[in-house]
Amino acid sequence: MSSNIVVLSGSPRKNGSTERLVQAFITGARDAGKTVTEFRVADLQIAPCLGCGSCHRSGVCVHEDDMPQILDALRNADALLLASPVYYWNVTAQLKTAIDRFYSSLRVNPLTVKRAALILTCGNGAPDSCDPSIATYKRICRHQNWEDSGIVTAQSLHAPEMLDGRAELGSARELGQSI
Ligand SMILES: Cc1cc2nc3c(=O)[nH]c(=O)nc-3n(C[C@H](O)[C@H](O)[C@H](O)COP(=O)(O)O)c2cc1C
Repeated sequence: MSSNIVVLSGSPRKNGSTERLVQAFITGARDAGKTVTEFRVADLQIAPCLGCGSCHRSGVCVHEDDMPQILDALRNADALLLASPVYYWNVTAQLKTAIDRFYSSLRVNPLTVKRAALILTCGNGAPDSCDPSIATYKRICRHQNWEDSGIVTAQSLHAPEMLDGRAELGSARELGQSI
């Protein structure tokens, strides 16, 4: 079980559906005595990776922005929650931009994360709506050697109130407890 969890919440919408599920996850985790640090990536200045490779030599990205806050937290964490609405069949650009910047930790000063979890929301009800995002997440887990601790998806959502009474809130809370 994890004791120190970092949450990267990828929706640009404050108090939206994704954030409701994230808060349920955090409540579950804190109830179980875990430390949680949440970053709303859309509220931070995170520049896209330039692919220059400089970080693989120095361990430091050429961008001077907010990403070191996240990387420092991930160097003291044992678990990571990625949360996002589905935008054009994958995670939001804001979350993907932050994930791409993990590149700077691959060779120098690696992350301490051991396990990960995923929360997704989407508008569509088709069973394959979350598949591309889940495939990306699972491939990243394999690459980073993170154990997948669980995935919660909530579909057919166009407003946060549509989550009222739905089982996914309980599932997110349980994921926070069990990760
Ligand atoms: C720009 C944009 C793109 C979206 N693309 C998809 C999509 O590809 N598939 C889908 O099912 N829902 C899509 N949606 C709907 C959102 O995923 C859904 O409403 C989600 O629950 C919103 O989460 P939030 O309240 O946290 O912002 C899109 C919404 C926006 C604003």
